[in-house]
Amino acid sequence: MSNKAIVEYDGKKLELDAIIGTENEVGLDITQLRAKTGMITLDPGYGNTGSCTSDITFIDGEKGILRYRGYAIEELAEKSTFLETAFLVLYGHLPSQKELNTFSAGISAEAGLHYAMKSHFDGFPANAPPMAILSAMLNTLACYNTELLTTATDGPKFEVPALKIMSKVRTIAAWAYRTSKGRPYMPPSPRLSYCGNFLHMMFSQPFDLYEVIPEVEKALDLFLILHADHEQNCSTSTVRMVGSARANLFSSVAAGVGALWGPLHGGANAEVIAMLNNIHDNGIKLSDYVEAAKDKNSDTKLMGFGHRVYKSFDPRAKILKLHVDRVLDKLHIDDPLLDIAKQLEDVALHDEYFIERNLYPNVDFYSGILLRAIGIPVNMFTVMFAIGRMPGWIANWREMLCQEQRISRPRQIYTGETLRSYVQIGSR
Ligand code: SDX
Repeated sequence: MSNKAIVEYDGKKLELDAIIGTENEVGLDITQLRAKTGMITLDPGYGNTGSCTSDITFIDGEKGILRYRGYAIEELAEKSTFLETAFLVLYGHLPSQKELNTFSAGISAEAGLHYAMKSHFDGFPANAPPMAILSAMLNTLACYNTELLTTATDGPKFEVPALKIMSKVRTIAAWAYRTSKGRPYMPPSPRLSYCGNFLHMMFSQPFDLYEVIPEVEKALDLFLILHADHEQNCSTSTVRMVGSARANLFSSVAAGVGALWGPLHGGANAEVIAMLNNIHDNGIKLSDYVEAAKDKNSDTKLMGFGHRVYKSFDPRAKILKLHVDRVLDKLHIDDPLLDIAKQLEDVALHDEYFIERNLYPNVDFYSGILLRAIGIPVNMFTVMFAIGRMPGWIANWREMLCQEQRISRPRQIYTGETLRSYVQIGSR
């Protein structure tokens, strides 16, 4: 495999180094392109542009491969836990029992919120979008941890904010939900697991504590494992972009929440349920819906379908589809939306339009049905995605700083007006 490439334009030639990754991906190093040729590359949406090298997650979109630090997502989904996977994503190795115990104890210890933060929740209207509250309150954590507003990548100055964010994101999410229901806030219980504590804070009532059902706890843990990282997706790239200005971790992950909220990204899981409900409630023929999704003149999309990277199946969708069946069966839930989803997938996967464009179900296609089964309300679906993605955002922020990456500042090709003189209009 050659480690050089030649760019030739307008009589000029430039030799570029080829960076070859451990999975034989090839990236052409254009860091000197403008200095040596005056030219830049142009790639709106960055579909062909690598922003960094990374050791965290590997995706092979053609083969449907996803690995965190070299471990296959299928193995982690089957055998690991979210906290063990989070440690792996953050620190690059599976934790020893001692390391895991320390990590888990740190997470448990950090679940509470400063009492004064309660007044912030009281100020939100009942219909405040939970993603807006999440982003705001992650930034508000910075107000109560001013000594942690650093870009440290090791030791307590990194570990403590990372633990705080990983742990408190659940409390903020649960309290955002309770704000919307006008319910009193439920403090965390140190006795419960990561997921059990979240479900407790979401659904317990003062004299009627939520009973954590093992199947529900395991399903939520699986959901979080599958969302823990996904290389340079829109929200992770946002976290890296904000962090590259040496913004602190609280501010950087709060920015990631903003990007994730978009319906083309993390917001899709809720959109899938809206789509399935629309089909179910209005008795829409699946073939008619698929035709509408193919019609460029309609704003209908098959939500939960397609992906920038996966041009074959998204392994997370396959795992979720398998587990959704198991969880609904164990919880004796018969969700008509699951049948619609499976039939819709079947119609689409046999349709030339989707086949030609390599459009397959992505992580969001079945995740919403799993969340519904465990009782999470739809307006909290993207918040659940953010809870899962937190270790990935933190790990990428840290890696970018360890690489001592310069501030991210893309260039552009200007296509506006050329120089023109100012003409005063009327008399002033
Ligand atoms: C996530 O990047 C990540 O890793 C993200 C994520 C993660 O873990 O972080 O995996 C999580 O965000 C998953 C994606 C969730 N979003 C959706 O499900 C929304 C629906 N999907 C589409 O909007 C779209 O597929 C995207 C946004 C996911 C990908 O967009 P791209 O890569 O820009 O692809 P594109 O829009 O250029 O599509 C290529 C073609 C187009 O048709 P043509 O112009 O070639 O004729 O495919 C069509 C698109 O119109 N197309 C769809 C479609 N998705 C793509 N047509 C109908 N329905 C769809 N869902």
